[in-house]
Amino acid sequence: MEKKWWHGKTAYQIYPKSFCDSNGDGIGDLPGIIGKLDYLKELGVDIIWLSPIYCSPMADQGYDISDYYNIDPQFGTMEDMDELLAQAKKRDMYIVMDLVANHCSDEHIWFKKACEDPDGPYGKYFFIEEWHQGEPLPCNWRSYFGGSCWDKLPGHEDRVYMHLFHKKQPDLNWENPALRRELYDMINWWLDKGLAGFRIDAIINIKKLLPFRDFPADRADGLCSAQYMLDEAEGIEVFLDELARETFRKHDAFTVGEVFNPRPEHFPMLLGPKGCFSSMFDFSTAFLGGSDKGWYAAEDVTPDRFKETCFASQKLVEGIGFYSNIIENHDEPRGASRYIPAGEQSETSKKLLAGLYFLLPGLPFIYQGQEIGMEDMPFTDISQVDDVNTISEYQVALDAGLEPKEALRLVCRLSRDNSRTPFQWDGSANAGFTAGGKPWLGVNPNYTRINLAQQRGREDSLYEFYRSLSALRKDPAYRESLVYGSLVPYLPEQKNLMAYYRKGDKTLLVCGNFQTAPQDMALPGKVKAVILNNLPGYEAEERALHLEGYQFLVLELE
Ligand code: GLC
Ligand code: CA
Repeated sequence: MEKKWWHGKTAYQIYPKSFCDSNGDGIGDLPGIIGKLDYLKELGVDIIWLSPIYCSPMADQGYDISDYYNIDPQFGTMEDMDELLAQAKKRDMYIVMDLVANHCSDEHIWFKKACEDPDGPYGKYFFIEEWHQGEPLPCNWRSYFGGSCWDKLPGHEDRVYMHLFHKKQPDLNWENPALRRELYDMINWWLDKGLAGFRIDAIINIKKLLPFRDFPADRADGLCSAQYMLDEAEGIEVFLDELARETFRKHDAFTVGEVFNPRPEHFPMLLGPKGCFSSMFDFSTAFLGGSDKGWYAAEDVTPDRFKETCFASQKLVEGIGFYSNIIENHDEPRGASRYIPAGEQSETSKKLLAGLYFLLPGLPFIYQGQEIGMEDMPFTDISQVDDVNTISEYQVALDAGLEPKEALRLVCRLSRDNSRTPFQWDGSANAGFTAGGKPWLGVNPNYTRINLAQQRGREDSLYEFYRSLSALRKDPAYRESLVYGSLVPYLPEQKNLMAYYRKGDKTLLVCGNFQTAPQDMALPGKVKAVILNNLPGYEAEERALHLEGYQFLVLELE
């Protein structure tokens, strides 16, 4: 595979609003991030992805952009952004921003102009249709945040516009070359400024099935999931190829796509040397247990399903390109709460989960707070939740007949706000996130126990283990095998054992006992060295390894 600058690096996602607040207003900001660059460097981070910090009315926490060329004042100024780029560069770090191009905010000037004159040039930047009271809407697709994807165009009784997400996020019409040009110019403007690349939001939605048409309803609301139309819409590759050609390729940018449910035939077009993006997230485990019906029908994930899913998903990109691997992000609950069975969360089990996903082929992403093992939030009332999507899913659960208490339990398990609570820096008030008043979202009460200060420098901490993982992938002795080596599952049928080889110039065996009870694992050959262990020791015989509960080992074999 052609070597790229980002191979072998470690990436980190910052959710700016919740990372570090420098001025005491309860909202994380750019100066806060700049102040933590040395910390991230120490952790071993090279690439930093910032969730949106552009001007936004924050209907969807910045994923509704009203000005792509400016920083929202709550996060700082463009001078702060320039300073962040400069300070990152000084430390050999790369900044990646979120590119939200499927939709903008209804407060963006384009949408305002479209409302003023839907038949003028800006009307064609969106999907606006004629509609009269009493008529069916153009189609019955459901918005991802609930309800129809059509809403009345402000100021017009006889027009509707499409929004696949929140109604304050009108979809942009990629069929219009003028709109595409505006987006490319904006992307190049940022890349020229020194940005290393983008995480590309909701990109698979840019191609709509035209003309609009209904699909059979899949819930009592008479609507259908937008996935049906995505499955039938043809031609996204033409848009993506033009996008890459006009922007990313010219800059050798690093790009990672947020692509849900990719079609297997699309993989070579999506990632790898011939792909439109450098990489894309592997969401296969994030989707586990989910139901089309809603959160109330979601199931728990078992260690074996986690394992099978990782291996099957990796197989799809073998020889094509590298995934970006995650166990959580700002749209998911905390990985430690989700993938480790309830009640078994400890630094040891969290290290196992960390090691298992981190050493798969691909680029490991750490989501802020993951490195210290932050867990889901024990919300006690729905009023503590901010996220639009959660509030909609909570309602769906109530409508399905759940008691408020049960619906709240789902929120604690599945809400996006679980991962959006402030970073737990130390054991002081507000976990050291803000020197001032009230954080915009409540701090997880477990911060006195789980915080960075408590782990930094403690040799056996989860945080130090993440540092070792990052260092191991960069170690000249193992880099070739861990970055470019093949993945071969080992004893995939053995229950609650997740083990795999990484075979390159060396043969490494990554193995984890994904349960509290000890278990033995047959050894395929002689152990030359133990290069990582999440417990103080280990027991091996000639042909067998005894693994303690949640023990995780990386072995070099002869
Ligand atoms: C992506 C983002 C999510 C946002 C949505 C709409 O899925 O990660 O946070 O709500 O797109 O932009
Ligand atoms: Ca602030």
